[in-house]
Amino acid sequence: MGKDTLSITDNRTGKSYEVPIANGTIKAMDLRQIKASEDDFGLMTYDPAFTNTASCQSKITFIDGDKGILRYRGYPIEQLADKCTYLEVAYLILFGELPTKSQLDDWVKNITHHTFVHENIKKFMDGFHHDAHPMGMLVSTVGALSTFYPDSRNFRDPVNRLKQTYRLIGKMPTLAAFAYRHSLGMPYVYPDNDLGYAENFLSMLWRMSEPKYKPNPVLAKALDVLFILHADHEQNCSANAMRAVGSSHTDPYSACAAAVAALYGPLHGGANQEVLEMLAEIGSKDRVPEFIKKVKAGERLLMGFGHRVYKNYDPRARIIKETADKVFAVTGKNPLLEIAIELERIALEDDYFVKRRLYPNVDFYSGIIYQAMGFPVDMFTVLFAIPRTSGWIAQWQEMLLDPEQKIARPRQVYLGYDKRDFVPMEKRSEKILAEAGVR
Ligand code: CMC
Repeated sequence: MGKDTLSITDNRTGKSYEVPIANGTIKAMDLRQIKASEDDFGLMTYDPAFTNTASCQSKITFIDGDKGILRYRGYPIEQLADKCTYLEVAYLILFGELPTKSQLDDWVKNITHHTFVHENIKKFMDGFHHDAHPMGMLVSTVGALSTFYPDSRNFRDPVNRLKQTYRLIGKMPTLAAFAYRHSLGMPYVYPDNDLGYAENFLSMLWRMSEPKYKPNPVLAKALDVLFILHADHEQNCSANAMRAVGSSHTDPYSACAAAVAALYGPLHGGANQEVLEMLAEIGSKDRVPEFIKKVKAGERLLMGFGHRVYKNYDPRARIIKETADKVFAVTGKNPLLEIAIELERIALEDDYFVKRRLYPNVDFYSGIIYQAMGFPVDMFTVLFAIPRTSGWIAQWQEMLLDPEQKIARPRQVYLGYDKRDFVPMEKRSEKILAEAGVR
């Protein structure tokens, strides 16, 4: 075994450098010493979309994308989904260990006691249009929590951080349920602190005049399992947003609003909604080959397929498929399932997908379950945001406590004009907007 270093020869100057390798990485800053001339800034790496750049060291979630492995704090996702509740997993993700009985009781009690929101939140919720997307409402209302808890800026105090953690995990389902009730024009339902985390969420969504809402235990359990599967996923787009925004030392509610906004996009959490819309558009099993043709021609994306990290079956998709059977035993089968299974079958045999290593991801089957459970399509991404909150907080906290972290501020490769002289108005071009394609 040789040395843990990398030798680099700069062919511009003929000089050689040796930089250390640790954990399969070199430090980008070690390249700065490589200069073509005295006044050169020094070498940088260019990596749009961070496809090959580790932005942090983390102990929270491990993914082996080639093998299809996902672990939270070392525990395989399959075991956690089988044996834990979501709040137990949230504790694990945040504190690094599974809770004892008394730790769990305390944790659940504290989160449950933070499920209520300030009455004023109802007022600004009312200001949204009746057809406002619930993710848009969630982005705004989570961000607005920062105005209710200005003490949350004191992030250096661990007790204070824990309090914001209770609040965020506790209030997220309440905000989500209020957004849903608003879209129906129905009165908001307050949290029921006798119920479990997923059960209480279902109660806030669907309770009508009955004094106590009793969710179907199979559906509540299925939702809890789905929450576990969505709790964290290392440095994805929204976790990166949470870390980047939090690195400016803003409060956790504002950083969380940024994370929710990132999740909203169709290439991230918004994909579960797009999958359902795609399946509905395909409409029947016999139209699957025609759709696949369009995907291969580059006209469409097969939503719910492909992943930046997984180049194998997403282990979450496998568990979701099993959960679907339990849900359908209660709700009856979602007719779109047949189309999804046919899409998967054809895609997994097709050279286009095989060559690119495109497999179903977490979003491919989750929407089919959500729809069977009675959720409208635009609530799907909200169902992702609720459980991901624990992951976002864990990522935020890890970033704050890491002495190597600073405000996130990437470099750029500047390709614009060199210095040029001011152009008076009468000499400016009319062509600019046409060239930008807007006129
Ligand atoms: N359908 C068709 N072709 C695809 C797809 C797809 N879903 N995904 C990737 N490809 C092709 C892509 O066009 C490229 O082909 P080529 O090499 O000929 O240019 C190749 O596969 C590699 O893809 P990429 O775009 O370089 O991969 P990426 O890592 O940048 O993107 C992704 C990952 C998830 C954004 C992408 O696979 C995608 O857009 N999938 C559909 C949206 C989706 O399901 N998103 C949910 C992701 S999982 C949950 C989450 O993160 O929230």
